[in-house]
Amino acid sequence: TPMLERQESSIGILNKMKNHNRNVVVFYGSQTGTAEEFATRLAKDASRYGMKGMVADPEECEMDELANIKEVDNNLAIFCMATYGEGDPTDNAQEFYEWLQSGAEDLQGLNYAVFALGNKTYEHFNATGKYVDKRLEELGGKRIFECGLGDDDANIEEDFVTWKDKFWPVVCEEFGVQATGEDINTRQYAVTVHDKEEVLEKVFTGEIARVGAFKTQKPPYDVKNPYLAPLTVNRELHKGGDRSCMHIELDISGSKIRYEAGDHVGVYPINDQDTVEKIGKRLGLDLDTVFTLTNVDEEASKKHPFPCPCSYRTALSHYVDIQTPPRTHVLRELSEYASDPKEKEFLVTMAQSTEEGKNKYLDWVVKDHRNILAVLEDLPSLDPPLDHILELLPRLQARLYSISSSPKVQTDTICITAVVVEYSTPTGRPTKGVATSWLKAKQPDNGHKPRVPIYVRKSQFRLPFKPSTPVIMIGPGTGLAPFRGFIQERDFLHKEGKQVGDTIVYFGCRRKSEDFIYEEELSEFQKNGSLTKCYTAFSRDQAQKVYVQHLLDQNKDETWNVLENNGHIYICGDARNMARDVLNTLERIIMEKGEMDKTKAEAYIKKLQNKGRYSADVWS
Ligand code: FAD
Ligand code: 2AM
Repeated sequence: TPMLERQESSIGILNKMKNHNRNVVVFYGSQTGTAEEFATRLAKDASRYGMKGMVADPEECEMDELANIKEVDNNLAIFCMATYGEGDPTDNAQEFYEWLQSGAEDLQGLNYAVFALGNKTYEHFNATGKYVDKRLEELGGKRIFECGLGDDDANIEEDFVTWKDKFWPVVCEEFGVQATGEDINTRQYAVTVHDKEEVLEKVFTGEIARVGAFKTQKPPYDVKNPYLAPLTVNRELHKGGDRSCMHIELDISGSKIRYEAGDHVGVYPINDQDTVEKIGKRLGLDLDTVFTLTNVDEEASKKHPFPCPCSYRTALSHYVDIQTPPRTHVLRELSEYASDPKEKEFLVTMAQSTEEGKNKYLDWVVKDHRNILAVLEDLPSLDPPLDHILELLPRLQARLYSISSSPKVQTDTICITAVVVEYSTPTGRPTKGVATSWLKAKQPDNGHKPRVPIYVRKSQFRLPFKPSTPVIMIGPGTGLAPFRGFIQERDFLHKEGKQVGDTIVYFGCRRKSEDFIYEEELSEFQKNGSLTKCYTAFSRDQAQKVYVQHLLDQNKDETWNVLENNGHIYICGDARNMARDVLNTLERIIMEKGEMDKTKAEAYIKKLQNKGRYSADVWS
């Protein structure tokens, strides 16, 4: 039974530490893999400081055991905790988070430190990491070092390296151990190259968990078992300008996939094939070679970094992120394969946390936006084995999209509204967004429907329970996506004869004649009375910028009325500037109309949030 399995793995953690002589355990709360990667690096680091580390996924552990880790001499638990969405823990840390909240456990004797991963453009910056740090102390744990606050909007790699370089000396001091001073570049995985005939049936070709999962699809579908949805529509929404925005329809009939308006759909993309081929060519390799990477640590719960065996081409196409500029530890480990001493030195320097190193990394990698291929092209003496590169690169992530349909109206269909990402890096390399450029090329043709691996991710972004509740929806650009679903749903209820409250939309784009997406649909909804008001801010149609929050500000009375009538407010789209500016405007309206000071207005908004009457679905 699952219960028994849980207990077995729970016995695992303390036993594993004892039996294998580990005194450092690094837990991670990870959604996109960065926290997991940092955890792995910390566990590896431990051996440079006379400690022995292991990595653990809180979802696979009975976290009650934290209370027993004190049995281990010089114990140290490190937590790499990402914050997700609106200040939430990641999926794999959810249970641990609840356990901490209920927390009756006595953690005296546990030594700990937290590195938090978050993004400053979001309102609840690093809420999860900060909470874990505070709560572990309240439960009796001993904080060895201050909580690190990583900001993915700036340079989280630098935040992490800076934090850990101060952290480890404190650990040495605390436990009376000595840094060995060596850079131990031990490989985490060993490579086996297969004779293709031997592994024929077992070779992964892009599946997420099960070989053949794309040939014989079996429900239930989820993040580990995506559904290959036929793409039935891929239509351009922009009427002009040089950008493209796609309206995509995916057929989910027969899949038993359910969703609600406001949910997200995850899409597993494939990397640009030109880049994949160029990496193969640059390294002089046959990309059809089939291989396996196996963890050299037999105790590790993760046996392979991605599904193995597979071909180099499959790994580069489906499993690793070859587009994001590589992190410093990748450069350090690759430096040993540079035959030109200057290039070697350059790579080593960039991986150091000195002022010089940080600046070089920032300029040459981050600002210039060099991906792994660009690094290989610009350092010609570098000749690393591809399997080592594949071991070091992060996993390619599924992309999330706010579903832009309602299942009540577009039965068996999931709609996506996505802007195609295209830009040129400072070194003049044209670059395309992985998922959007891949989707762009997928066009249904003569009855042939291209297939897209998807799964639905439930969200908290929901219409009010009662249709009669008034709503204000603020969604410039692709922020309109979930609101198309919301309006469809309110229109459906309206047509059913239900009493539907005011439905007010704020939409913004550059020019009415170019990027006013879904213009015809919106005007149709307005005509039939389902959409009460549609305020549009065309930022570039006149000399001064007009944004959604400017219009909101002009409609103070209406906004205040909606709020005082138990209405709901929704914001969707750009997290970087728009969401914050809109929130500030809202706060000013509440201050003025409600005659409150700033503190009271903030508390008013907090209350709206807690009651589910103010929701944001934002990304950066
Ligand atoms: P990637 O390959 O991931 O490239 C994007 C990256 O390229 C950026 O992070 C940035 O580092 C870099 N970049 C982009 N432009 C430039 C530039 N000019 N100069 C330098 N670097 C640049 N997107 C939508 O379009 N519609 C939605 O409804 C939607 N909903 C979302 C909901 C959620 C909850 C989340 C988290 C995201 C949502 N997104 C949505 C964003 C979406 O998930 C993808 O991030 C987006 O489509 C880009 O993916 P991509 O693979 O094409 O680009
Ligand atoms: P701009 O690009 O002309 O500055 C959708 O992207 C729309 O949001 C565009 O019209 C864009 O205007 C606008 N926008 C940019 N920054 C914004 C902000 N801080 N608040 C609200 N809208 C913004």
